[in-house]
Amino acid sequence: MKKNKLFKILNLENKFQTQTIQSYNFLKNDIYLKSKNWIFRKRSFAKGRIYNSKIKWLKGTNFFQNKKNNKYVGGVKRKFEPMNLKLKNNVEKIIKEFIDKKLIDKKIRFFGAHAIRIICNKKNLGYPVPEGYHHDGFDFVSVIAVNRSNISGGKSYLKNATTRRIIFSGNLKNNQALFFNDKKLLHYATPIKLVKGKLGFRDMVVLTFSKN
Ligand SMILES: [Fe+2]
Repeated sequence: MKKNKLFKILNLENKFQTQTIQSYNFLKNDIYLKSKNWIFRKRSFAKGRIYNSKIKWLKGTNFFQNKKNNKYVGGVKRKFEPMNLKLKNNVEKIIKEFIDKKLIDKKIRFFGAHAIRIICNKKNLGYPVPEGYHHDGFDFVSVIAVNRSNISGGKSYLKNATTRRIIFSGNLKNNQALFFNDKKLLHYATPIKLVKGKLGFRDMVVLTFSKN
């Protein structure tokens, strides 16, 4: 991404396949949430390297954020369920699209990929970002909309970390990616609320990119 550009929205050419979308139904509960009686987040994770525009998946699903970046669950060593192959294939194509479109350059050598489903029901809201506005702690981040059902809310926001001015707000459409500079911007998304049926959800892919 050009130095003066802080974010970009793009409609992905590599759309999520039906099997990938359906695989979100099998995501496992996030065991690190503070509310133990209302588990509103399900997730999986994988990480890898980018080398000469090629992607190599790495073993392991350990994940760590410091307390400064994540007031909610920072400082806790987390280990997530591994991401399935279908999703990994989709993620590879998306990262290649980002490279082709010059959003990430050769300096970016590592990435993390999270599949996240936030749920809500009649009694409870779902919180995409329980910690509020935050940095993920990488160079670039992309939040990508996969699917949503029976909900209102889940609106994405970007805020300039220096001026504290909101520079983007909007509901991402399916297969739309918001790509941004995680050093300079803070991100957030509003809670989701059930509008019909028994269960609502918001399915996303979050990609993180870093130099080291
Ligand atoms: Fe985040």
